[in-house]
Amino acid sequence: PPGRYEAEAAPAVCQGTIDTNHAGFSGTGFCNGTNAAGAYAQFTVNASAAGTATLGIRFANGASAARAANLVVNGSTVGTVSFEVTGAWTTWVTKTVTVPLNAGGNTIRLDPTAADGLPNVDYLDVSVGAA
Ligand code: GCU
Ligand code: CA
Repeated sequence: PPGRYEAEAAPAVCQGTIDTNHAGFSGTGFCNGTNAAGAYAQFTVNASAAGTATLGIRFANGASAARAANLVVNGSTVGTVSFEVTGAWTTWVTKTVTVPLNAGGNTIRLDPTAADGLPNVDYLDVSVGAA
């Protein structure tokens, strides 16, 4: 759909590997971030107008504890996200958050704050306005 940004598709950045070993992902793979604080996934998204955007972050967390990340938009931390456990690496869920976007290009970075790193990240859906 319009407004979907796959984690494996440039100019997205995955500080880790693009993997395909856990079924249920969209596109051709997902971002398996290195298990380390600061090993981020970043998306570059386009907004037709400035305003509050709703993000849908699709992820899987088959580990036994939630994983935390800063939500960084255009270089500024605008919030934090806790990616809850999903029960299996093949169980993908979508988490919704809102962020401010500029008109035009914006970088959205999920920047993990603990040594476990990010969950596996599949894609980012972005919608402006209709939240
Ligand atoms: C497992 C899993 C990976 C995941 C990793 C993690 O190795 O297969 O897909 O990224 O755990 O704990 O982050
Ligand atoms: Ca990982």
